[in-house]
Amino acid sequence: MTKKIPIILDGDPGHDDAIAWVLANADPNLDILAVTTVSGNQTIEKTSYNAQRICTLIGLDVPIGKGGSTPLIREPMNAPSVHGDSGLDGPALPEPAFPLSDLSAVELIAEKVRECKDKVTLVPTGPLTNIAAFLLAHPELKNRIEQISLMGGGIELGNWTPAAEFNILVDPEAADIVFRSGIPIIMSGLDVTEKAFIKPEDVELIRSHHNEVAQIVAQWLEFFYEFHLNLGYEGAPVHDAVAVTALTHPEWMDIRELYVEVETKGKYCVGATVGDIHRVTGKAPNTKVLMGIHRENFVNYIARACGSYGEVKA
Ligand code: BDR
Ligand code: CA
Repeated sequence: MTKKIPIILDGDPGHDDAIAWVLANADPNLDILAVTTVSGNQTIEKTSYNAQRICTLIGLDVPIGKGGSTPLIREPMNAPSVHGDSGLDGPALPEPAFPLSDLSAVELIAEKVRECKDKVTLVPTGPLTNIAAFLLAHPELKNRIEQISLMGGGIELGNWTPAAEFNILVDPEAADIVFRSGIPIIMSGLDVTEKAFIKPEDVELIRSHHNEVAQIVAQWLEFFYEFHLNLGYEGAPVHDAVAVTALTHPEWMDIRELYVEVETKGKYCVGATVGDIHRVTGKAPNTKVLMGIHRENFVNYIARACGSYGEVKA
């Protein structure tokens, strides 16, 4: 890769959002223009505070735009059972050294997209509220978006209902707007992210790097693993980190091009991402759906990223 990819990280941190940001910040092929927050794993107050603390931990000094407190039209839904009361339970984190921007998440995205000489890639790893709100508020900037590499959905399975994945379920109307936008989409849904798990022995590889970021990532993973272990998982699926890896290492992915729509109504399937596997709609694919990943490469990529934060403490 020769030229850096300009990206905006939009998320609801969240342990796996945090690790996705650690990864993005460490990769020299990515240029992070801004960070924006969304209500999802926890309230917008908590995810924004967490975003500030993560940026402080990893030295990511970019504007942080706070999102709204609710999805587009629905009541908020949070996930304390997965990420704890703070949204990022586990190790103590530094208090914020960076303030929140005066601009809202949507206006910060608009400003950065307008300013950037290249098209910008959006990397949402929470509900798609901000991305949809940006597209509704600034249709003139749509053609300045290169692509959207998102974590959300699942062609074959859900996690919060049998049919729906959390990020899409929280704001299906927003997801519907994004999938119908015409912007190229890379979907890291549960089909791939449940294969992108970290086992306890992988955590030791990360912990072997003697710096604060690696030690904290190891503890986040242990926290995340505890929850998933009780559900019978082999390791902790680091869902959101796949949306970053998809940009830098597409060669590690099994990719299927599909036309994907979002169910916004319905008794059982609201929030489902419906993939037209047999091309029955006759519609051209709008999404690169990731179905598989080279897990060992992914684990080593995270470990290397953690190592890049230095070897300062014995
Ligand atoms: C998604 O939901 C959140 O809990 C995670 O951060 C991830 O973005 C997985 O369904
Ligand atoms: Ca997330």
